[in-house]
Order: sequence, then structure tokens, then C-alpha cells
Amino acid sequence: MQIFRTQDYQAMSRKAANIISAQVIINPSSVLGLATGSTPLGIYRQLIDWYNKGDLDFSKAYSVNLDEYVGLSPDHEQSYHYYMNENFFSHVNFAEGHNYLPDGMAKDIDAECARYDKLISDLGGISLQLLGIGHTGHIGFNEPNAAFDKMTHAVDLHPKTIEANARFFASPDEVPKQAITMGIKSIMQAKQILLVANGAEKAEILYESLFGPVTPAVPASILQLHPNVTVVADEAALSVIMQHHSEAVSR
Ligand code: PGA
Repeated sequence: MQIFRTQDYQAMSRKAANIISAQVIINPSSVLGLATGSTPLGIYRQLIDWYNKGDLDFSKAYSVNLDEYVGLSPDHEQSYHYYMNENFFSHVNFAEGHNYLPDGMAKDIDAECARYDKLISDLGGISLQLLGIGHTGHIGFNEPNAAFDKMTHAVDLHPKTIEANARFFASPDEVPKQAITMGIKSIMQAKQILLVANGAEKAEILYESLFGPVTPAVPASILQLHPNVTVVADEAALSVIMQHHSEAVSR
């Protein structure tokens, strides 16, 4: 595992965008595993900027997103379909039909999960999976005590996650209670993982995830067992790790 420390959010975004760019330049038909949330926004802005400058071409690339809320349609402003279109896809040149997310409106959720797994496998697997980390240590919507051996599946959201996401809805009651998420096993099958984090409120969970015991109680801790993980985080998010394992961190 490589851990990069950046001064601030902007530098974190730029470094992570550099890693994604390198992937797309070296393999134009990469399958990018993408994530939503606040953390990746700066990365998408940076990639759009480089695309506008002519430095990046997504025309042969594919994307598969980690998750989607159950019950939100793609045109709902809080759906992850909407987020991805607004913040990334509509600004760059992915080919039509190359961007995939789970369908939160599917009538048969289990069939949708199976379809999504097959889709990822038919694409040849994920070249690089971008991940944020939740306050609970969740990755995707794999909340504490999720089984490590699951592929895409439906989950009940953790109360802390509902609370954290409530800021995007008019009231906590409107936050969907379920989501479809790639499972820990799907995430672990990605060839490369890029975990990003910023802010002091992620410092403790980042430390537990990367240096604590590997346990379903901290879903992100499984990443310690993945052979190709890069972490890019700002100083605030790395503050606890710096106290205990500064030797493991590069600038
Ligand atoms: P955030 O979410 O980027 O909005 O902090 C991260 C996550 O929940 O995975």
C-alpha cells in the first residue's frame, strides 16, 4: 500500500486525478470504478479541466459506479446517476452507453445486482476503483459488519450514513433507507484501488482502516489485504496515522 499525504483538499484532488489520468492514458479502454460523495468532487473537476485542455480522452473508457440509492430515479437530484452526470459525465467525452450505475428503480433488486456483477465481469473487471471512506469505515455502502464475501447486493443504510447524507435532503426522513452497492468482494476484485480522504473527521477511521485489525467492524480495513492500493489524503485526514506510522507516508 502506498500512502500519499497532500497539503490540502485541492492537492489531494490533483494527485488522485493524476493517478486516474495515468490509468486512462496508459490504457484508454480502462474500466474506471467511480464513487460519489463530497470527497471526489475536486477530482472530477480536475479531470474535466485536463479534458478541456485536451490532455485526456475518455472516448474508449468505461465507468461503473459503486452504488445507487433504492427508489431514486436517475433524474432525482440526489440520485447518484444525477450526481455523476452533473459532476462528471456531461462534461467529458465518454461514449454513449459506457457509463454504468446500479438501477435503483429496478423492480427485481436481486436480478439487478446479478446483472450488475455480470456487466462488470463482461467488461473484463475494474481497472481502477476510486473509493471514499465513510465515518463508519464504509466503502461503497458496505457498512460495519458487512460480509467480506459479497458481490453487488442491496443493503439497509447505517443510521450514521443516513445522518451524514441527510444534509443533501430536505429532512432525514427523505433519505432512502436502502441502496444497491458493489460488495466488498466486488471491490477487492478491482485490479487497482485508489482511496481518497480529506478532513480531520476522517483521521481516526482512516487510521483504524489502514493500521488496525482487518475486521468486518471496519469495512475499509479489508483494503490492507489488496495487493495494489494507493491512498491519497490530506494532512488533516492523515493526522492520526502521522502520529503512529509517519514512516509509511510519502509526500
Ligand atoms: P464523503 O463520503 O466523500 O461525502 O465524505 C464518503 C463515503 O461515504 O464513502
